[in-house]
Formats: sequence, C-alpha cells, structure tokens
Amino acid sequence: METLRGRDLLSIADLSRAEAEYLLDLAAQMKIGKVAPQCPKVLGLLFQKASTRTRVSFTVAMYQLGGQVIDLNPQSTQVGRGEPLPDTARVLDRYLDAVAIRTYGQAELQLFADYARIPVINALTDREHPCQILADLLTLRESFGTLAGLTLCYIGDGNNVAHSLLLGCALLGVNIRVASPPQFAPLPEIVAQAKALSGGKSEVTVLTDPQTAAKGAHALYTDVWASMGQEAEAGDRQPIFQPYQINDQLLALADPRAIVLHCLPAHREEEITASVLEGPQSRVWEQAENRLHAQKALLASLLG
Ligand code: CP
Ligand code: NVA
Repeated sequence: METLRGRDLLSIADLSRAEAEYLLDLAAQMKIGKVAPQCPKVLGLLFQKASTRTRVSFTVAMYQLGGQVIDLNPQSTQVGRGEPLPDTARVLDRYLDAVAIRTYGQAELQLFADYARIPVINALTDREHPCQILADLLTLRESFGTLAGLTLCYIGDGNNVAHSLLLGCALLGVNIRVASPPQFAPLPEIVAQAKALSGGKSEVTVLTDPQTAAKGAHALYTDVWASMGQEAEAGDRQPIFQPYQINDQLLALADPRAIVLHCLPAHREEEITASVLEGPQSRVWEQAENRLHAQKALLASLLG
C-alpha cells in the first residue's frame, strides 16, 4: 500500500490494521529523514476549539512537505455567523486539497465529509481524537520496539481520547484497559466496536478500579477530567475523579518498564502528579513530538 489518497479520517477505525501499520512505519521513516515527499498542496484548519499541538503540528507538517496551510478560524469566516456546514463544505472543497476539523459533535464532522470530496481529517471531536492516537501508538512502539504483547492502561474520563485509544489499540492488537468512574465510562458502542476490531486476539477491558487496571501495564495514560466544552462541570468532577489520579503509587503497580503518556495539556496534581509527569518514565514530550511525524505521514498518504 502506498497511499490513502483522497480518504477521510473521521475515526481511527477508518483505517485497516495494515493501513495503520503503514502510517506508523512511514512516520518512523519521516522522523529520521528517510522519506521526504513534496506536496505542494493546501490544508485548511477549521477549528472550533483551542489547540496548540494539533494546530502547530499540522501546520509544520504541511510546510515540511512543501505544502501550505490556511487558518479557517470560525470567527473570521462565515462559519461563525452560521453559514450552513454543507454550503461551507462544498465551497472549501473547491479551494482546498484537504481540511482538518476540530469541533464538538462527530455528526458535524460527518456532515462536512458527506458534502466535501477532499479528505476530511478529524482533528478532535467530542467522540474521537484519531490523530492523537497515531502519535501515541508510535511512541509506544518506539519505547518497546514492538506493539506485540503490550498492554496500555487508560485511567480517567471515558472521553474522545479514551475512545480512540480503545479503537486504535484494538486495531493494532495492543491490549487496552480503561478505568473510569462508572458514570464516566466510555460509550458502550465504542467498546463493542473495539471488541469487534480486536477479533478476540487482544484484550479490551473496561473497569472502574484504577489499581486493577494499572497492574502490570506497559503504559499508563491519562487525560483531563473535564474536556473542552465541559469547563462548567470541572468542580463537580474533581472529587469523583480524584481516586483516578496517576501518581507514584499507581505507577508502582505497572510493569517496571512502563511508560507514562498524556495527550496534553495536563493539569498537574489533578489527573497526574508533577512527579510522574516530569519523572523518568514519562514520555509525554516525545509523544507530543510524534504528533508531527504521525500527521506528516497521514497527510503525505492522504494527499498522494
Ligand atoms: N493533544 C492535543 O490535541 O493538544 P491540542 O489541544 O493543543 O491540539
Ligand atoms: N479530552 C481533551 C483532549 C484535549 C487534547 C479535550 O477534548 O479537551
């Protein structure tokens, strides 16, 4: 397989296992400068939420590929004044070569993709964050040399990142455990989809006890307790999530070689302690760097 030309990436599960492995290999080669395709194309960034890593890594990836980026901030386009998405999609489709969208509902992303012929990339929705998970799996593979036989344990809110981890790990045969408070568990339909993707060959486990989940894991992963759009709930969520903090005691239960991952931005002493985030087992900065390499591989592949 040489290209995913013209495809959409709305969910990490839009990739086959072979395609996901191809992207990780391409990202690893691009990281060491082995592959440097030229891509004189234009990517639009239509972001309804804040972003540092995704925005900058997509921009730099396009520049490094020889392409360009247009920032389609909703406030400076007609999107912010309510122009219907199907209209926006059919117009931007005629100018751009691809578009990365960060928004709330997955249905908005799907609607845009239904009306645009160019590749549409999910740059984070409330349901999924597939580009993040490509970088996470690359980081995990770099740390252990392989993904075979590894167990990743996500502790915290059953949110967009948890969903894409469930699907991405299942796709690539990585055992995945998600521990969340019962009322913040991942969506049952995503868990069912992950189980189907794993084909029974790897573990897909959802539980409520963080200690049981962390035992022997090769990676401990967490994310914020209140995602973008949930800021008003942050105070109520704090005491519920407190037992789900990744700290030195929890890390001691994992495999001695375990790495610690966080998609960032992080809240020290909330979902993760500073001692763990800044400690020797943390790979969060490498993980953030890998956003660039993974997305460069994705763009090169989607744009042909
Ligand atoms: N991890 C991540 O997507 O970060 P940003 O919100 O800064 O893009
Ligand atoms: N779950 C977080 C991830 C941020 C990168 C959010 O959606 O805000």
